[in-house]
Amino acid sequence: MQDLSLSQKSFYIKTFGCQMNVADTERMSVLLSDLGAKPSEDPADADIVILNGCEVRDKAVHKALSKLGELKENKKKGKLIGIGGCVGQLEGTRLFKRNPHLDFVFGTDVIDQLPEILFQAGSGARHAVYNEFDKTRDYSTETKIFNRSASAFVNIMKGCDKFCSFCIVPFTRGREKSRPIAEVVSDVQRLVLLGVREVTLLGQNVNSYGKGNGTKEKPETFPQLLRALDSIRELKRLRFTSSHPIDFSDELIDCYGSVRALCNQLHLPVQSGSNAVLDRMHRHYKIETYYEQIRKWRERCPEGGLTTDIIVGFPTETGEDFELTMKLLEDMQFDLVYAFAYSPRPGTKAAKLKDDVPDEVKHERLLRFQKRAVEIAHGKNQRFVGRKLEVLVEGKTKPLKNSPRKNIFAGRTSCGKVVNFPYDGPRDLTGKFLDVVIERATGLALTGAIDAGADLGAGA
Ligand code: SAM
Ligand code: SF4
Ligand code: F3S
Repeated sequence: MQDLSLSQKSFYIKTFGCQMNVADTERMSVLLSDLGAKPSEDPADADIVILNGCEVRDKAVHKALSKLGELKENKKKGKLIGIGGCVGQLEGTRLFKRNPHLDFVFGTDVIDQLPEILFQAGSGARHAVYNEFDKTRDYSTETKIFNRSASAFVNIMKGCDKFCSFCIVPFTRGREKSRPIAEVVSDVQRLVLLGVREVTLLGQNVNSYGKGNGTKEKPETFPQLLRALDSIRELKRLRFTSSHPIDFSDELIDCYGSVRALCNQLHLPVQSGSNAVLDRMHRHYKIETYYEQIRKWRERCPEGGLTTDIIVGFPTETGEDFELTMKLLEDMQFDLVYAFAYSPRPGTKAAKLKDDVPDEVKHERLLRFQKRAVEIAHGKNQRFVGRKLEVLVEGKTKPLKNSPRKNIFAGRTSCGKVVNFPYDGPRDLTGKFLDVVIERATGLALTGAIDAGADLGAGA
């Protein structure tokens, strides 16, 4: 009988995909360390290796599966290898056939069952738990934090009911459900006691928060949640991601400027500038609505950072459709765009359409779009040079090539800009709010120096 105790064992988790998976990895890490296991930096040495996979595009799936293939090399007796996340949920036991070294597979809704899954897999039987979307209508949980930091992700809902025609997420995350406001508030109060000062509220469509809770006569709304969280004075920054234009209401726009902690930043995925394409994507809004929403938001938030998601090469996208997306880019002057080439996903509505934009055309459109998006961001970011910006320090980052400065820290402004700055002193600046004077700006980040008057604490 193999030793099932985890107290002398190590674990390694590799995360692919979005913030949902990042938050789920934190949860898994806490569950494993509560059982006595220690984190390891190296999958070759770890006793338990988990891949937390993403299904959103073909490339993402390949990344997780090729990593799984690599793990075969150093599989030794007693080592457990598992795959979870959206890949575990969708691929299930099929993964066992092609991967004899794989011990367990688990889905997105059973993370809290990880100890039991490990027990079964450790007892010698290959084990799979997935496809079991939680059937209860309400969603209740407590945020788990493994890597202590001043910033935390807090799931306020799970699942998605939108069924955009290109998207696999409703199939990997199940139906939309929200946590009650009172529960989220006490969760965040607890996080504040742990030193958290910035919270990013997570959900596929946070602004449809409350709607999935069909049992309630009058659902709680996202603006109500923001206002309730704002009463926690020690919470300095509040962000949310992702949101959908369909529920981006005037009431939510009014929260900018009236909810103290709400950062002047918005990620509002638009996907395309063409109404014909938006219609086939089943996004259920017109591009004119998006223009109007952003106009109103900018009135409340003139200095705000605006980011979005774009898909190029969706089936039937013509050259003219793509030019409308390029026009949208010029008109919106986004601070950052996450742009992707369309990738058909099995079982989605769009997968039934002919994937008729050739790969070279998708690629050419993507490159042209990305190049222009970076130029725009670069131009916009120059306005920060010479200004003093408040940064929440996230930690040390890699030094720039050929730079004599070895200790570079990175943080974020309220509007979501990454700021890098050198510091060779003895303090760990992680988690501090500091003023940084901006010296240079590229399309992706700002670089500066700590303001002479900044308070770094004793011994700095
Ligand atoms: N819930 C968010 C929303 O409504 O926009 C985002 C969800 S998805 C995880 C993140 C982004 O991936 C999407 O906004 C979309 O741009 C992109 N995406 C999703 N499915 C895709 C596909 N089949 N091919 C290419 N990009 C895709
Ligand atoms: Fe996917 Fe659309 Fe749901 Fe976002 S809103 S997760 S793009 S189905
Ligand atoms: Fe990927 Fe699942 Fe997120 S498919 S983008 S990890 S919800």
